[in-house]
Amino acid sequence: MFATADLTGTKPEQYAQLLAQARALVAGESDRIANAANLSALVYHALPQLNWVGFYFFDGTELVVGPFQGLPACVRIPLDKGVCGAAARSRRTQRVDDVNAFDGHIACDSASQSELVVPLYVDDALLGVFDIDSPVTQRFDDDDQAGLEAIAACFVAACIAETVA
Ligand code: SME
Repeated sequence: MFATADLTGTKPEQYAQLLAQARALVAGESDRIANAANLSALVYHALPQLNWVGFYFFDGTELVVGPFQGLPACVRIPLDKGVCGAAARSRRTQRVDDVNAFDGHIACDSASQSELVVPLYVDDALLGVFDIDSPVTQRFDDDDQAGLEAIAACFVAACIAETVA
């Protein structure tokens, strides 16, 4: 059974604890669906003020929704659309303080006010994106970005690791 441990200390300290929990969850497992499901649940329940946490995977043409926590979401996102598409295209994390001011934002849940999307790449190959939505504006700062990028990197590392028998 996974025992949740409350995050304590400064924000970087809390993200270090969350990353340790993430690493423990994916240890020895390279199945991307399993890891995306568990990491979505971990982050959604550990951090305050979030309404959607999940993964979109690149199918060779567009982004397709994967495991997530939150309300049902748009299934397919073309690479030239939305915050997710911008992250995938630019290969850079998109941190949007107010989604209503982002040209082309796709509203899956009308509650979402701010959003952070981390692109997931293995070398030059696009795996997908890790998408986190909040019902408040300006929810994500530099510490959140660094912490969530580290969890995304943990996911990618697990995907490409040999599964330990
Ligand atoms: N808002 C995203 C779409 C995905 S949902 O937030 C789950 C976007 O603009 O790409």
